[in-house]
Parts: sequence; C-alpha cells; structure tokens
Amino acid sequence: MKPPLTRIGILTGGGDCPGLNAVIRAVVKAAAKRGWETLGIRGGFNGLLDPVRTMALDYTQMDALLTSGGTILGTSNRGPFAAKRAHGVAQEIPREALDAAKASFEKLGLAALVVVGGDGSLSIALQLSRRGVPLVGVPKTIDNDLDATVITFGFDSAVACATDALDRLHTTAASHDRVMVLEVMGRYAGWIAISAGIAGGGDVILIPEIPFSYEGICAQVAAREKLGKRFTLIVAAEGAREAGGHFVAREEGAKDREAQLGGLGAVVAKEVARRTGKEARVCVLGHLQRGGGPTCFDRLLCTRFGAQAVRLIAEKKFGRMVALKPPTTVSVPIEEAVGRLKQVPVDGDLVMTARDLGISFGDA
Ligand code: F6P
Repeated sequence: MKPPLTRIGILTGGGDCPGLNAVIRAVVKAAAKRGWETLGIRGGFNGLLDPVRTMALDYTQMDALLTSGGTILGTSNRGPFAAKRAHGVAQEIPREALDAAKASFEKLGLAALVVVGGDGSLSIALQLSRRGVPLVGVPKTIDNDLDATVITFGFDSAVACATDALDRLHTTAASHDRVMVLEVMGRYAGWIAISAGIAGGGDVILIPEIPFSYEGICAQVAAREKLGKRFTLIVAAEGAREAGGHFVAREEGAKDREAQLGGLGAVVAKEVARRTGKEARVCVLGHLQRGGGPTCFDRLLCTRFGAQAVRLIAEKKFGRMVALKPPTTVSVPIEEAVGRLKQVPVDGDLVMTARDLGISFGDA
C-alpha cells in the first residue's frame, strides 16, 4: 500500500521583505525532495479563516522565486490576526480565530505549517502551536530586532538599499555643501541605520538606542566645517528620538496596530538648518527598503533557513524557529525569540567602530 502523502503548509505574515519568496522556494524544493507536497496559505494567517485561501506550490515552478521581491503568497498584519501593539506586547489572538485556523489546518490535511514572519507573526505562531498546531518558524524582518538569531533575513537587503542611497546622497551633498538627512526604517532598533551609516560613510547616525540632542548633531556639523568639509550626511532611524522626546509618528497606534512612524528626518533637517544656517534636505527611504529582490547574502540565508525548516518538520521538532548562530543554522524554541527586543548594544563593537571613526550619535 502506498504511504499517505505528506502535505505541509507555508504562510508569510506581517510586513514583507526581500527573501520571502526565496524561503518559499527552499521549503517547497526541500519538501519535494522528501516526496512531500507544499500548499501555500494566502494572505498570512487570515488565509486560514473562512474563506480559506490556498495556492498549490509546484516544485518545478520555483526557479524565479530565488531572486524576486515580495511574497507570492501575499501577507497581512491586519484583521483578527493583527499581532502587535508594540514590540514584545503581543496581541492575544481571539480563541475563535485560533480554533478556526486550527480547524482549517486539519481540513487541508496538513502535517505541519511553516510560518515565515517577525516578532508579531511568530507570536501568533506560538499561540497556534500552544493550541496543538505542529509548526516551525522562520525569522524575517528588515529591522533585525528579533532575538535568538544573529540575523533575520531581509536585513542585509535593506542595509544594501540604504547604503546605496547614502552613496548617492554623498555626491549630491558634497556638490551643494548641504546637510543631507536619510531617514531609514528601524522602529525600536537602529541596526539598519548604524550598519548603512558605517558602510555608507555617514557622519551622524541617530538610533533609537541612543537619544540625541540637536547640540550634539550641530557640533558635528561645525567640527566638519572646521576641517573644510562643508557637507554632512545624517542617517536617522525612524524610531530615534531626541533626549526626553518621543517618536515622530505619521499616525497614532490603535488597539490592534502599532503607530505608523515617519517624519523624523524632516524634523531633524529643519532644526539643523535653523541652528547652523546651512541648507538641509531630507530623503525618506521608506518601503524601498522592503521592496525588490534579496542580496546574495539573503538568498543564501533564506535557502538555508527554508531547508532547515523542512529538516525540523522531518524530525518533528515543532514549536521551534530556525536561527543563525554562525557558522551554522540552529533551532530554538519560538518563545525564546518573540517578545524580546534585540537592540544595538550601546557599548558594542558597531557603536565603538563608529565612534572610533569620528561618527557622531548626536549624544555629545
Ligand atoms: O517592522 C518592519 C518595519 O519595516 C518597520 O521598520 C516599520 O516601522 C514598519 O515595518 C512599517 O510597516 P508598514 O508597512 O505596515 O507601515
């Protein structure tokens, strides 16, 4: 008698980022290698609610996914599965929604589910897992603020995008003797800002971990002028704030939604111009950091993560998340990753490297 076919499901949740499709491809291919079938769940966890939305994933059709941006499955961070109010403050998902998702999972004949997401989606995964759904997690977020993995996929691609933007701003800032402010994403952690800031030759880096003052920023502008450097590049994480100040938000948060951050760059540019008398301009990189294809590093990481997720399922190691602990991929309990913000250590080597090079955090 033929053994029953093993069918696994995969969904992508929360904000998109480069590399989601590469993970889908790796999971589908590694599953096919074991003779398993993979079913895609559309639109994040909402795809498991009535009307259930799925997509057959044929392993022979996966080739273009390695390099493409976005997610062919779609994603969502709204609705009954809206996950977060703030980092580490996971929304308790209504029991009915969890039960309905579990019922769909069983009805679809799935043996396991791969959940690809950040802190919010993985905290939903944890709740589903506690209700008896066998699943494994794959850590994604351009912000790189998820604990228990040295790096999340999507981050390297976002840093590459921000560094490219800085390279471009550098030449125009120098041509016009201007202050240029680049606002990048990074809600609670400044990993993108500090990494791109160092890689792209920024002069001031503003991150959520180190409150800044305008005196500190302007002192750096003045010090550069003294050296004959008549332009200054400032990289600001959207979640950075003035000492004693607050986030700059476009839209307030709600019960089931975090505040939509954005606008800090313009505020900084205006204030620095007022205080220094120099021309200042702002560039908001926004969702360009989340769009487009993954870097080589992310393609490789996504492929390793996807294959590792399938190995975890084969070993029936459920409730776990794949993680990178160089030089290898490992797995950790999902609860070790969620609800724990991984911020830039203020006395770590990245901050020290920046300071050693004379880069200011606007704090002195
Ligand atoms: O969490 C990743 C992130 O890129 C944050 O840095 C940013 O604040 C947020 O997503 C933006 O999300 P949305 O696209 O829902 O506005």
